Amino acid sequence: MLFFYGTIEPLSHALIILMSATLVTVETTTQLTDDLIIQPPASGVSLHGQIEVPGDKSISHRALMLGAIAQGETQIQGLLLGEDPRSTAECFRAMGAEISDLNTQMVRVQGIGLGQLKEPVDTLNAGNSGTTLRLMLGLLASHPGRLFTVTGDSSLRSRPMSRVVKPLQQMGANIWGRANGTLAPLAVQGQTLKPIHYQSPIASAQVKSCLLLAGLMTEGQTTITEPALSRDHSERMLQAFGAQLTTDPQTNSVTITGGATLKGQTVIVPGDISSAAFWLVAGSIVPGSEILIENVGVNPTRTGVLEALAMMGANIALENQRLVAGEPVADLRVRASALHSCTISGDLVPRLIDEIPVLAVAAVFASGTTVIKDAQELRVKESDRITVMANQLNKMGAKITELTDGMEITGGTSLTGTEVESHGDHRITMSLAVAALNAKGKTTIHGAEAAAISYPTFVATLKQVGGELKNL
Ligand code: S3P
Repeated sequence: MLFFYGTIEPLSHALIILMSATLVTVETTTQLTDDLIIQPPASGVSLHGQIEVPGDKSISHRALMLGAIAQGETQIQGLLLGEDPRSTAECFRAMGAEISDLNTQMVRVQGIGLGQLKEPVDTLNAGNSGTTLRLMLGLLASHPGRLFTVTGDSSLRSRPMSRVVKPLQQMGANIWGRANGTLAPLAVQGQTLKPIHYQSPIASAQVKSCLLLAGLMTEGQTTITEPALSRDHSERMLQAFGAQLTTDPQTNSVTITGGATLKGQTVIVPGDISSAAFWLVAGSIVPGSEILIENVGVNPTRTGVLEALAMMGANIALENQRLVAGEPVADLRVRASALHSCTISGDLVPRLIDEIPVLAVAAVFASGTTVIKDAQELRVKESDRITVMANQLNKMGAKITELTDGMEITGGTSLTGTEVESHGDHRITMSLAVAALNAKGKTTIHGAEAAAISYPTFVATLKQVGGELKNL
C-alpha cells in the first residue's frame, strides 16, 4: 500500500492516498496537517496517465504585470493559480489595476497605462515570490513622485536584492532598505531614470526583466547584456504588447527603447515545464511508467531539463509541437528507462536552474556519478537548494557531496523513506515526493503545503497518475 497524507491543495483536509501496485485510493480526513506521507508498496508501483500541468509561473507574472501597465484590456487564459501569481495580482491591484477574480478560465486585467501606477496606501507584499519583487522594483523605481514600500515572507526577506538595486541605482533610482538597501523590506522613491548599458555578472531573467521594465519608462535605450542567455519570456511578451525591443543573440544582449505605448493583449499561458519536470523524472525513474504531459511550454530558454534528461538516457518524446501566442508548446511523453550519470554545467545551467532539485533525484537513481556545477545561484533561491537537497536526500540514503556551486551525486543507491523537510520551498517538496515514489517504506515530507506556491494541484495529479480518489 502507498499512503499519502497531505494538505497541498484542500488546506482544510489531510489526504491519505492508499496505493496498491496499480491503484491509488485517496481518503480525506478533516485533520489539519502540513505533511505529505508517501509509502510505496514493497512490490513497487508504476505511474500512468494523460495529465496537464498548471500555467507557467514566469509567463503568468509577466502577463499580469504587462496587462496592468498596458492600455486597454488584457485577457489571460491558463494563468497559474499558485500563491506567487496571486501575490503579483494583489500588488498591482493595490496600485490601481483592475484584475478580475483569478479563479476563472479567462482572467481580465484592465490596464491603467504606462507610468500610471498609483502610490499604494500600504506596503506591497510579494510573499514568497522573487520574480514579483524583483520585476516590480523596475517599475516602481521609474514612477516619479510616488513612494512605494515592498516586502515579502521570511524567505524573500533573506534573498539578495542588490542584483537589481545596484543597476537601478546606476539608472538614478532611490532605493533604501536593510543591509544597505540590499534586503527587503525596501522603500522606493520613484524617479525619472536614465538609460544605461548594464553588463550583468549573472544570467538572470529577473535582473534582465527588472531593467527592461525600468527601461520602458526611461527616455533613450537601455541595454542589458548577460553572460549566458536566461529565459526570454519578457522579451517575447514586451514585443507582443508593442514595446520597442531588439535582441542580439551573439552577445546575449537586449535593448529596449523607452516611451512606447503598450496595448492590452490576449495571453495564452502554456503549462509550466518546471512543473512538468517532476513527472518527467518520476516517469523516468519509476519502473514501468508512461505519462503523457499535454500542453507544456518548450521555449528553448527553458528546455535544459529535456537536454539533461536526454544526456542521462531518458525516454522523452516531444509530440504535437506548435506555437501558441508566441511561445513554443508540445506534449511530452515520458516512458521509464535506465538512467546514467551526466555533467550539468555552463550555459545549460540558466536553462534548467529551477529543475536542478528534481534532476538531483534523477541522478540518485542513475548509474555513475553526476556532477552539477556553475549553479551557485541555487544557494539564493527560496531555500539554499544545494544544502537542502543534499541533506534531505542523504537522510534517505543518497550519496551526495555538496560543492560550493553544485553537487556531486553518486547514483545507483537505493533510498529508504524517512522524515524530510521542505524548508518551505515548493520545488524541494515536490522533488522529495518524486524521490519517495521510488524509496522503500514511508517518507514524511514536513511543510509540504509549500507546493502551492507553484503547483497547487500537485497531489491531485499524483492521484491521477496513480489511481482513484475516495473520501473517508
Ligand atoms: C524567473 C527567473 C529565474 C527562476 C525563477 C523565475 C523569472 O530566477 O529561477 O524561478 O520568472 O524571471 P533568476 O532570474 O534569479 O535566475
